[in-house]
Amino acid sequence: MPVDLNNERPLAWDSATLDADTKAMLDNLQPNILRAHVREHMTLLFVRFNDVAEGRAFLRGIATTKMKSARRHLEEVRDFAAGRGRGTPYVGIGISKAGYRDLGHPVEDVRRFDDEVFRDGMKRRIARAGDPPVEEWERAYQREIHAVVLIGDAEPEPVARLRAEILGELPSSARLLGEESGHGMRNPAGDGIEHFGYVDGRSQPLFLKDEVDREPKQHWDPAFPLSNVLVPDPFAPDPSRHHGSYLVFRKLEQNVRAFKEIERDLADSLGLKGADRDRAGAMLVGRFKDGTPLTLKPGGNGGPVVNDFTFDADDGSKCPFSGHVRKTNPRSFGREVIMARRGQTYGDRADDPSDDSPPEVRPTGEVGLLFMAFNSSLLSQFEFTQESWADSPDFEIPGTGHDPVIGQGVRDLKVTFPKVWGKPEMSPPHAQVAQTVTMKGGEYFFAPSLAYLRSL
Ligand code: HEM
Repeated sequence: MPVDLNNERPLAWDSATLDADTKAMLDNLQPNILRAHVREHMTLLFVRFNDVAEGRAFLRGIATTKMKSARRHLEEVRDFAAGRGRGTPYVGIGISKAGYRDLGHPVEDVRRFDDEVFRDGMKRRIARAGDPPVEEWERAYQREIHAVVLIGDAEPEPVARLRAEILGELPSSARLLGEESGHGMRNPAGDGIEHFGYVDGRSQPLFLKDEVDREPKQHWDPAFPLSNVLVPDPFAPDPSRHHGSYLVFRKLEQNVRAFKEIERDLADSLGLKGADRDRAGAMLVGRFKDGTPLTLKPGGNGGPVVNDFTFDADDGSKCPFSGHVRKTNPRSFGREVIMARRGQTYGDRADDPSDDSPPEVRPTGEVGLLFMAFNSSLLSQFEFTQESWADSPDFEIPGTGHDPVIGQGVRDLKVTFPKVWGKPEMSPPHAQVAQTVTMKGGEYFFAPSLAYLRSL
């Protein structure tokens, strides 16, 4: 029996009664899809092949000697929690549509991927996602990328070692077109943050029973079927047991100084005083810096980051409909749109992103997010989120405005903000905040099954 990807019950992956097909699925799936892998330090290598046999041998070599399965990863996490040693590094592979073609799959076969966004590639979809013209992307991303190799670990040394080994195995016919490295940033509470200083990565679709069991679920159900991230791998020996996932990669540069000026100016123009000034940034993100959802509380509380909430009791007077987390997950509908975010921050900074220093000391560029997310459909998950939610000023109700964090496109519509948390009194029409996140390039990949990679 093929694995039922639509099963609503979270996967009890280490149950003694797990069926053989699901076991085979986990033994052939890449890690970091169903469950986030530790990747505090991360390197991404963007590669182009020029010889079919050598390209195939390179990927096969990585898969057979350096990659573990999703099941092995889950066992490592279980063993680590029980004090039985630390796990091994993460190595992942994504192949672009052009990569499949240049690994020798005829163009008509590549149509077996039924995601048209993947088949087009990111450059041909810029109009849909509102992206800058390709000529404005960083040079590496203007080229035709065939594959990305992802390397991650809790420590920098294993990443550096694997990077050197993998580059040493790159055949002379292939080219390293570009490389990114990212590393995690944390606030004093130990939570991961992004460059604007806000806790990130808290809300995720969970697929595994042990992860779901640890979450409170009075208001929000964090359990999602595998169908949100997995599809049969069309080129695998047995697509009913061998699965993969579409991976979107986008390099998103953040102008932190501009964002901090916007927070300050918005607080001024709304007349916010004292601790209430933090509400300005929270109205843009939908959470306070410490992760507290704005819809729940007028101020951050510093406790564990809550994710058991909805916007059902919020007409926009607490969290604006445009707030980033409300735009990208309205919670009362659209569960099938939710993807597994697996990004990492990039860039070094001299200042402390989590403190209250003035905007003047903040970076204006060279820092940002290596946005990555696994999808079962790029069309109806990533691209839909960007195009129909973040870039649409009329989602969720007309006149809402763009997503102030990631929205792209002309922001001529004026918007209003609640002057007092939870009260109907709104500000006079206010220009939308300027765009502070710039897309520098990216690509759509498919993270194939290990069975496929080993068969190359
Ligand atoms: C959540 C920041 C790009 C989709 C969040 C959160 C922050 C954040 C601070 C709250 C943490 C959490 O709820 O887990 C950023 C920044 C970005 C960025 C600074 C760019 C530099 C994107 C992109 C997308 C996206 C490109 C998709 C198109 C989401 C989603 C959530 C989220 C789906 C979770 C919402 C929820 O389930 O409540 N982001 N993000 N983000 N972001 Fe982003």
